[in-house]
Amino acid sequence: MQQKIDQAIKDFSSELILTKTPNDVLDLKSRYIGKTGVISEILKGIKDASIEIKRSLGPLANAAKEQIESLSAERIEILETETINTKLSAEKVDLSARLGIWDKTLIHGGVHPTHQVLRELEDIFLSMGFEVLDGPHIEDDYHNFEALNIPATHPARDMQDTFWFANKKNLLRTHTSTIQIRGMKERKPPFRFVAPGKVFRCERTDATHEMVFHQLEGMMVGKDINVGHLIYFMKTLLKEIFKKDMEVRLRPGHFPFVEPGFELDIRWKKPDPKKPSERYSGWLELLPCVLVHPNVLKAWGIDPSQNSGFAFGLGLDRLVMVKHGIEVVRHFHRGDLRFLSQFANY
Ligand code: FA5
Repeated sequence: MQQKIDQAIKDFSSELILTKTPNDVLDLKSRYIGKTGVISEILKGIKDASIEIKRSLGPLANAAKEQIESLSAERIEILETETINTKLSAEKVDLSARLGIWDKTLIHGGVHPTHQVLRELEDIFLSMGFEVLDGPHIEDDYHNFEALNIPATHPARDMQDTFWFANKKNLLRTHTSTIQIRGMKERKPPFRFVAPGKVFRCERTDATHEMVFHQLEGMMVGKDINVGHLIYFMKTLLKEIFKKDMEVRLRPGHFPFVEPGFELDIRWKKPDPKKPSERYSGWLELLPCVLVHPNVLKAWGIDPSQNSGFAFGLGLDRLVMVKHGIEVVRHFHRGDLRFLSQFANY
């Protein structure tokens, strides 16, 4: 009897190898351990045997059933895994493949030139230990003006014509300096961060002025931070973006929340408004860079006798214009593929 059971398991195993689907396995299993299966038939064959024989064969038959159960489960798992793998390799999408290789007529997107430079700038500042912060586009009067020492009657407000909401309390931020306030509130010196983003002004537009443009705010506060640090970081940023020394000039600049303040201009080839195809060399205001006023530090609980800091507000669109020799800022918002495809970086 023992031999019959052993033989049944051998037969089962050799048939099991040939199964191709989980259903084949289930059919096979029921042929062996179902009500009328091979094992049950073997057991029926001993119904007239003595009690002792039945007792010794019972556990043997149960062990055989368990073995068939577990061999079937293993086989089903193998077949299911094979099915999944075949499916996966048939449906695999190669994300690194370039669409153009298969179909040159397909138009595919790329990163906007402003955002390409923005990503470069983030990498440059991250590599110099700066954090990258974000802030809301919809601001309140306090973060956009008051906290920066620009009260309602201050003439500096006129330079940033503002899109106000009907509630007269909220506005679209006019600069990224709002993130100076948010960043200082949440940190203790020493700290350094940059904060890039869109800003909005009700501007009269021209070649270098848009209503929606991008700035990259930067701030560093700690012990003995001085103009030397400020100039070092500005030079490094320009060197990394342009990969060569650029001609720049610093001139005095005033902002209510700074002491002292500079404007950094960069030499570029300006388009001639009368003959757009011709360019002449000129200066472009790129970024104000300043030491932070001690009162501003004090207002945020930072002791100005122990700490000082610098801040800057880079005009990102203008930086991209100089980098790529773009003559008017409004190209950036037109969505004209003839313009954008020149910077495709896929
Ligand atoms: C400011 O916005 C200050 N918040 C910058 C600042 C930061 C000062 C930190 C002190 C400390 P300003 O309005 O000059 O400054 O704008 C900064 C830069 O944004 C300009 O130098 C210019 O490069 C760019 N910019 C200003 N207005 C426009 C515009 N309408 N279109 C495109 N770029 C502009």
